[in-house]
Amino acid sequence: MLHDQKAARRCWFRQLLIKGAQRRVLQIAADKFLTQIHAIQNLVSCPSNVLKIRRMQSPEIAHHLRELQIDDAEWIYRACQDIEIQRWTTVPRPYSRDHAESFVLSRSGELAAYVIVHSQSGETVGVVGIHDVSHGIASVGYWVAPWGRSRGAAADALQILQVLIGRDTEALTVRALIAETNAASRRSAERAGFTMTGPDTTTCPDGLNQVVALRYEKSVC
Ligand SMILES: CC(C)(COP(=O)(O)OP(=O)(O)OC[C@H]1O[C@@H](n2cnc3c(N)ncnc32)[C@H](O)[C@@H]1OP(=O)(O)O)[C@@H](O)C(=O)NCCC(=O)NCCS
Repeated sequence: MLHDQKAARRCWFRQLLIKGAQRRVLQIAADKFLTQIHAIQNLVSCPSNVLKIRRMQSPEIAHHLRELQIDDAEWIYRACQDIEIQRWTTVPRPYSRDHAESFVLSRSGELAAYVIVHSQSGETVGVVGIHDVSHGIASVGYWVAPWGRSRGAAADALQILQVLIGRDTEALTVRALIAETNAASRRSAERAGFTMTGPDTTTCPDGLNQVVALRYEKSVC
């Protein structure tokens, strides 16, 4: 009997320790999340109607977004010669200077498009855009130039874009359709907190082929 009581007390004490540790882990995660949210809110707190996107203060976010400018055409033209961008996106092939110029002037049918800038160096590294917003869903797309890859640019851009979508549109969900075979893009979406919710009825390009498009979605905060 005494033995049972001791065992029960030990078990109760162990549970208490586990709960304490779980609470601490949750608290750390919540603090980290709030830091990021505050940083993102600072970023988009500009009162102007013209969208001005300021540099984020969060050390976790190494990039910021800004609007397209006429002189972006040159580096966008250079970036879009990249075989990977031509393989996975719907940019025209071959991609000419005229395509780049028309993109910076008219966004070529995109609802919105922003330049991704590496905050420390000021280097322009990619483009992220909103294709459309319909039935509460904002569809987005992105590419990062070869010289800006593997520094989390796409994931940073998606996180910032999600906040802008929440602020400026009625969308409740952000969706990226990603080719099943595009491992780097799927990883970027996951890194930005998106979840794969299943295959879409449409397809995505993989070079000259069309492959299964996976839906990656995230709720708008
Ligand atoms: C996909 C793309 C946007 C990623 O941009 P990025 O800024 O380099 O992305 P990240 O720095 O977040 O890195 C991507 C992740 O994929 C991983 N990755 C890169 N190439 C990979 C590959 N071939 N297979 C598996 N994982 C790969 C990286 O290691 C990184 O993982 P990590 O976060 O665990 O370190 C960029 O490669 C690109 O523009 N590709 C061509 C256009 C394109 O695919 N656009 C998206 C269409 S849906």
